[in-house]
Amino acid sequence: NSVIAIVLRYAFCLILCIQLGVAQSKELNNSDSFVNAVIPAPRSVVFNGELTYFDGFQINTSLEKINRENPDIPNQPADLSQTEIAFFQSLLNPHNRDRSTSKNLIYIEFMQVTWHYIDSNPEYSIMRKNGRLVIMATSYSGFFNAIQTLSQLMEFNHNEKGYFLPSQLEIRDEPQFSWRGMHLDVSRHFFPASFIKVYIDVLSRYKINRFHWHLTDDQGWRIEIKKFPLLTSIGSKRSETMIAKNFDPYLGDGAPHAGYYTQEEVREIIDYAKLRNIEIVPEIEMPGHARAALAAYPELSCKGIKQEVPTTWGVFEDVYCSKEATFQFLFQVLDEVIALFPSKIIHIGGDEVPKTRWENCSQCQLNIKHHQLKDAHELQSYFIQRIDSFVTSKGRTIIGWDEILEGGLAKNAMVMSWRGTEGGIAAANMNHFVVMTPGSHCYFDHYQDTSGLEPLAIGGFTSLEKVYAYKPIPEQLAEQRRHFILGAQANMWTEYMPTENQVLYMLLPRLCALSEVLWGSAGDFKEFNTRLDHHYGVFERKKWNYRK
Ligand code: ACM
Ligand code: ZN
Repeated sequence: NSVIAIVLRYAFCLILCIQLGVAQSKELNNSDSFVNAVIPAPRSVVFNGELTYFDGFQINTSLEKINRENPDIPNQPADLSQTEIAFFQSLLNPHNRDRSTSKNLIYIEFMQVTWHYIDSNPEYSIMRKNGRLVIMATSYSGFFNAIQTLSQLMEFNHNEKGYFLPSQLEIRDEPQFSWRGMHLDVSRHFFPASFIKVYIDVLSRYKINRFHWHLTDDQGWRIEIKKFPLLTSIGSKRSETMIAKNFDPYLGDGAPHAGYYTQEEVREIIDYAKLRNIEIVPEIEMPGHARAALAAYPELSCKGIKQEVPTTWGVFEDVYCSKEATFQFLFQVLDEVIALFPSKIIHIGGDEVPKTRWENCSQCQLNIKHHQLKDAHELQSYFIQRIDSFVTSKGRTIIGWDEILEGGLAKNAMVMSWRGTEGGIAAANMNHFVVMTPGSHCYFDHYQDTSGLEPLAIGGFTSLEKVYAYKPIPEQLAEQRRHFILGAQANMWTEYMPTENQVLYMLLPRLCALSEVLWGSAGDFKEFNTRLDHHYGVFERKKWNYRK
């Protein structure tokens, strides 16, 4: 069976993957010129012939015809639902041309290649021949990526005469990395479900396939947990927020800040993302960054003293106590999270855990003794191992920030490397999967230039050019370990992003650079910029705020 699979895989590659190379453009014999400004750049775009004009596409769902035309190729009608087809149809008509009475449509035929059948295989090809358009893929991901590519082409190649495409067109494409992620912190500032959908729209346009939803932190617990209602009735609200960086003397804005997602909203957003080929990775922070939870359930801290949800930023000494009650609480929280989110991977935080409380807590010290641990650092490792065993027993896998390496990495854990790349390298060298997100290139809360004119940000400097230059695989990592680097993501921490527009400003256009890095087609920055120029108009039309 596996030999057949390999042979078929090879055959598939012959069909889809030959002619890898940079996007090409040729002069076409028309007054309009074909614009290939797709981001991320496909592996190969070849076109020729004349431009033809049309009013839109019509998806043809009956594929028996194709089987007859290609009797040697085993294929089947694409398994697309009416919802998916309607969604594709809307993406294919970005300028909202009236297609209802028009006969001037191009038929699209989806060919689902059945050999080497991988659910999440993102490869696709688009071929225009004899007036029709054939899209080949083996999975929903592949079809979705094809439609996003076509959607962008239709954005750029449109005028009063209609949409236009060259009469001959061949696109073959597949990404380098399977983890093409983007994160959003909804704790420091809460953003309603309506905005999460906009965020997902932006991500999906650039073929990002993971949305890391940072749902809990010190300044707010943002997901309904039915067993523990105080998490939201108390933990999702803070009395006010510090103004700018007025830590000392402290200056607050006097405006209560609150919000959380109901489980119903979460389910709806998961479905919304799925249609857009995005898997949501939820994050429940532990054992640190838990002050909002501890405001609701102070008995889970070492001191047991009630404290308010913080109104400033930073790293706080009060964390979950390692007592048994904490684990029982977290297991029940995770039970509800796992029931909601289909993601195989669950993020459990693990970063920035001061050990001061544990060092002075009789129950934590008892735990250290009982489990023969050296110190509080090994207690952190013990904490994560308990969570790892629980999540693994539910058929899922934990991922944590690179601090989870300290004191020994849990057996099944994946690592998200944020304090540089060392943590990721160490984990890969121990045969653990890694997602890269180093502060140097992937922190989108950093300033975008050094002019001093940018809106207030946390610090740092991560320009568009710097993001574009990022290489997720560290050079010092041995060849045979490189496959442990699943990809990378950028993080959007929202301490200094109180509004939706500010989040979008920090996202765009840096997301475009990240997307091409993760697709594996990043090349010359100047050439990228000429393509990016075509995208600003789209941001304007969609009312997505961006940095000009
Ligand atoms: C982090 O930035 N604390 C993961
Ligand atoms: Zn304790």
